[in-house]
Amino acid sequence: MLAAYAARIDAENPLNGLETGDRPDPEPSAGWTTITVKATALNHHDVWSLRGVGLPADRLPMILGCDAAGIDSDGNEVVVHGVIGDANAGGGDETLDPRRSLLSERYQGTFAERVAVPKGNLLPKPDALSFEEAACLPTAYLTAYRMLFDKSGAQPGATILVQGASGGVATALILLGRAAGYRVWATSRSEAKREAALKLGADAAFETGARLPERVDVVMETVGQATWSHSVRSLKPGGRIVISGATSGDIPPAELTRIFFTQLSVVGSTMGTRDQLGRLLRFCEQTGTRPLIDRVLPLADAAAGFAAMIDGAHTGKIVFVP
Ligand SMILES: NC(=O)c1ccc[n+]([C@@H]2O[C@H](COP(=O)([O-])OP(=O)(O)OC[C@H]3O[C@@H](n4cnc5c(N)ncnc54)[C@H](OP(=O)(O)O)[C@@H]3O)[C@@H](O)[C@H]2O)c1
Repeated sequence: MLAAYAARIDAENPLNGLETGDRPDPEPSAGWTTITVKATALNHHDVWSLRGVGLPADRLPMILGCDAAGIDSDGNEVVVHGVIGDANAGGGDETLDPRRSLLSERYQGTFAERVAVPKGNLLPKPDALSFEEAACLPTAYLTAYRMLFDKSGAQPGATILVQGASGGVATALILLGRAAGYRVWATSRSEAKREAALKLGADAAFETGARLPERVDVVMETVGQATWSHSVRSLKPGGRIVISGATSGDIPPAELTRIFFTQLSVVGSTMGTRDQLGRLLRFCEQTGTRPLIDRVLPLADAAAGFAAMIDGAHTGKIVFVP
């Protein structure tokens, strides 16, 4: 079957390790089943994998991709939850299972015509969502959902700052945050992307690092090093940073004095549970929220999608269709 996979690790030039070509069909083990993939979406996680972050060379070749919407073996339209973990081992939360992984880390991923997944990881795809839209939800939108509604502690009406407005998680934070009644501010390095954030529903958009008109209740961080000090400075006393990524690097100045003196909280967040994915699907149905899709490409052209993400040339999700 056709697949896009990591054939080599190259930390400096991740595209060097990406190949698109024939891979063996999945052979599901007990309790697993095979899904025919109708659409799948690119995440920065896939770029990290090609750089060797979370994907050691001894697991190659590895089909990349954490997201999928498709058809199960009974002909049902489904969305795949990409977290492979045992909720019991994580105190009721599979993301806290010490052995949990994402599809494409230990098990072959979704950038393929077919993928094997645990039967318990399937959810019905709402009719209201296309396969392309549904494929955007299990990683970027689920991460944003958990950051907003589980980890932020913020009530609707609170002001939330989203660092790096154009990314997959960032656009999800703007869309879901606005639909839930938060005042959403965003930053971006480019004027065009700030305009796109406003069109998407952000109440205001600022240049990366700019002084804000007032301090905010919560900052949503996925950028990391390039924006961390600004995030710390932008919070009200007692405010909270929710962090789920560090695209620009993960060793910023810690800003310890500011953190204790203004009594800030720093909260980590990763993916979400199957139940949260179910509620996210319903949230999209109920509010009419739809993921922002930057482009849809044939899976055979996956390299072009990766190149756009590495260059930061996208706003929203890049979707592949096998
Ligand atoms: N913990 C989890 O479960 C989880 C889930 C999903 C993603 N993540 C992580 O979250 C991060 C974002 O993922 P994604 O898929 O949304 O990636 P993406 O679509 O490639 O977005 C990258 C974002 O980073 C910003 N950015 C990059 N370099 C920057 C710099 N030097 N200065 C300022 N902004 C910069 C971009 O903002 P502008 O271009 O608009 O300025 C853009 O918003 C990744 O590191 C990913 O690994 C984690």
